[in-house]
Amino acid sequence: MPEFQTSPGMRDILAPESARWRRFVQVFADTVEAAGYEQIIPPLLEDIGVFSRVGEATDVVTKEMYDFVDKGERHVALRPEQTASVCRAYVQHRPTLPWKAWYSGPNFRYEKPQRGRYRQFDQVGIEVLGPTDPAVDVEVIALGWRFFQSLGLQKVTLRLNSLGEPADRQRYTEALRQHFTARSSELADETRATLARNPLRVLDSNRSEDADVLKSAPRIDDFYSPAASEHFAQVRAGLDALDIPYTRDERLVRGLDYYRFTTFEYAGGTLDSAQNALGGGGRYDGLVEDLGGPATPGVGFALGLDRTLLACDDEGVFSAAPSVVDVFVIDTTGGLEATVLTDQFRAAGLRADRAYDNRSMKSQMKAADRSNARVAVIIGTDERANQQAVVRPMNGGEQFTVTRSTLLDSVLRAVRAESSPTPKESQ
Ligand code: HAM
Repeated sequence: MPEFQTSPGMRDILAPESARWRRFVQVFADTVEAAGYEQIIPPLLEDIGVFSRVGEATDVVTKEMYDFVDKGERHVALRPEQTASVCRAYVQHRPTLPWKAWYSGPNFRYEKPQRGRYRQFDQVGIEVLGPTDPAVDVEVIALGWRFFQSLGLQKVTLRLNSLGEPADRQRYTEALRQHFTARSSELADETRATLARNPLRVLDSNRSEDADVLKSAPRIDDFYSPAASEHFAQVRAGLDALDIPYTRDERLVRGLDYYRFTTFEYAGGTLDSAQNALGGGGRYDGLVEDLGGPATPGVGFALGLDRTLLACDDEGVFSAAPSVVDVFVIDTTGGLEATVLTDQFRAAGLRADRAYDNRSMKSQMKAADRSNARVAVIIGTDERANQQAVVRPMNGGEQFTVTRSTLLDSVLRAVRAESSPTPKESQ
């Protein structure tokens, strides 16, 4: 075993998977930029205080943060998520409202690694700061839904809830605390520990011992203010108008503390239930204020790239495509011809590759095959002496000899012919 390997929960992403990652982010960018979102690239590292606001009682903050004191004695952390960074950036730069931002990139949480759960994982996400309009909640939820559709995923489901206004949420949390405390002897030990930290999170429990106590727990619906009820009704009406199917899940509280009003989660149809959350989000109207800014509503989501790609694997969609080279230059005269020709082909917009180390014709042909090239250009001693080149279509077409002055045109034509689908493929 090599001396150095990736740390637990960290992975190398090699080709062709790396190209799939890039394509994933590109499809996401296309989806949300078409809706007026602009990219923000926040730093990986922030003052720990930015993330503490995500919730003093959450696992993300208390147990999973990669934090340390840097050489300047600053207490910093690798970001566990990007919503808090986006709000911090808003307070710092004050872009015009409404501010619609999208992001992608890695986050860090010290979790127990398993399939679909890593210590470094990627997210794509959007945040909208400014409006309280439930139409924004609907737009955000719909964009996530449409993105999954454009990947080809068909088994994703959407769960929806509202946590009400902060005062509703507080009264509800208190009612839950009383209910669970009165019956704490019936709860599992781990659930009792959760109760001490955050009674809302007890609702997440799937432990069979807790089922009865959970069933008789107070219901959030009874705690909504008229404004919260109205907001929720409008979000639901919007989703109905867009024909986006969802399940109302009154136990959906999510793992971060900043939510109020709408919360939602997208689940994959195939992953283990512990890892089947492909993404989630909601409203966080108090977060900007918590970070020292003016009261500014916000709503958004983040989708886990790693998990969503696992869901794609499971559904057999959005697969990794092997890279394809347009033209592979085979030069048996020493290599300088290949250096010049690949440079010319690349300048003309072609994907061009070659072999190195002056290998034999046979070995270079093999390399051309491996590269999935559409066309090979062959330069031997005769071709060099006569200022010619051989053009060989790699799908079995007849090879032909051309002069150097017409080589580029011939190659462009041959590549085009090899790329256009055969009548059978295009049916
Ligand atoms: P979150 O639910 O903590 O929300 O994370 C969103 C998604 O990131 C999860 O559904 C999951 O797919 C992925 N994820 C989280 N942890 C891991 C992990 N250890 N390994 C692999 N994937 C993971 C947020 O992060 C909020 N910032 C979402 C949001 C945006 N709310 C409002 N705006």
